[in-house]
Amino acid sequence: MTSRFNKIEKQQLQVQTFQGGRPSSTPNCSSKVSEKYSCKATVYPRKMTTAPLRVVVTGAAGQIAYSLLYMIAKGDVFGPNQPIILHLLDIPPMMGVLEGVVMELADCALPLLHDVISTDEPSDAFRDVTAAFLVGAMPRKQGMERKDLLSANVKIFKVQGEALNKYAKKDVKVLVVGNPANTNALICAKYAPSIPKQNFTAMTRLDQNRAQAQIAERLGIPVSQVSNIIIWGNHSSTQFPDASHAVVEEHGQTTSVPEALQDAAWLNSVFVETVQKRGAAVINARKMSSAMSAAKAAADHMKDWFSGTIAGKFVSMGVISDGSYGAPKDVIFSFPVTIRGGKWQIVQDLEISDFARNLLDITGKELEEERQEALQIIEA
Ligand SMILES: NC(=O)c1ccc[n+]([C@@H]2O[C@H](COP(=O)([O-])OP(=O)(O)OC[C@H]3O[C@@H](n4cnc5c(N)ncnc54)[C@H](O)[C@@H]3O)[C@@H](O)[C@H]2O)c1
Repeated sequence: MTSRFNKIEKQQLQVQTFQGGRPSSTPNCSSKVSEKYSCKATVYPRKMTTAPLRVVVTGAAGQIAYSLLYMIAKGDVFGPNQPIILHLLDIPPMMGVLEGVVMELADCALPLLHDVISTDEPSDAFRDVTAAFLVGAMPRKQGMERKDLLSANVKIFKVQGEALNKYAKKDVKVLVVGNPANTNALICAKYAPSIPKQNFTAMTRLDQNRAQAQIAERLGIPVSQVSNIIIWGNHSSTQFPDASHAVVEEHGQTTSVPEALQDAAWLNSVFVETVQKRGAAVINARKMSSAMSAAKAAADHMKDWFSGTIAGKFVSMGVISDGSYGAPKDVIFSFPVTIRGGKWQIVQDLEISDFARNLLDITGKELEEERQEALQIIEA
């Protein structure tokens, strides 16, 4: 079910796109569907010397991808000078919807978007990719137990891990968004033994961004003045949003968030619960889960992973646990990390209060249980 420009057409496109100086009418997307509709996007060539980066997005016909693809293709993640080849994976019944997404991408006439490959074949989706956004997952349906959801997703992420192992670049950076994100990332890494475990991460950036927004709102300051909030543990309702090490920057002065707020009771109760339950609140209001904010968070996560964190600042990512802060080893646990040269490092020696210790233990225990259930499913 995959198709793309044939090789000669592709080579011609590359020449026209990257060496020409005037608009070309050659389509810049390729898929079974875009061929059928002979995708007529106009490409405005720019002088680009950088080789295109292959980026896969799974669940490409879904609602998060609908926002995320635009952010990636316009340069928000990999920079304004980095051409992109998008690989879009979804399941066979969604190929018609994906056709529309490919048409829209073409119609955006984005100069950085070099090519689009849409497919339902993991072998094509993961071939030679340098970055992978694993968004697609089986959603929880009415009457479904947590175990049923885990069972469906463990199978999906096993297949995708195997495909990454076989076809992706060995330094591919993988971000798992699809839930249960932490355990899905663990399973994916397990089935991709030729890729370092450090290259598999789960998204807790949306929780971090939500927490940052809550603090900024409470203090009545712009969100850009709040940093170093930590999300510990699982991307679930047991996560622990921790602002005890967060800081506020105002008029050239840095103050700790607890000091600026002077409201420990709010920080330890309303704040934690609001962030933990924000996903459910959005579903109640929108009748659909968070999508625009999830896409923004995925873009933030991958951007920081590729370009690094600012000195003195850290971000939260679900990464393979080495047991830091008493977290269980070998689960994907969200920690504060700094990033240099494309490699993350867990921030060490932060003080953990008794209150925090209890919440870290609860979320760690949940991750151990999820791991056990997932392994039982696989080994059954
Ligand atoms: N980590 C986070 O912070 C966070 C935040 C929001 C949503 N999520 C999760 O992200 C996932 C996607 O959310 P959405 O709103 O885009 O859902 P959606 O239902 O709109 O889209 C999901 C897409 O994935 C596709 N898909 C299913 N199985 C697939 C497979 N095996 N291979 C490729 N594609 C497949 C579906 O066909 C669908 O098009 C969900 O699991 C959701 O719970 C995570």
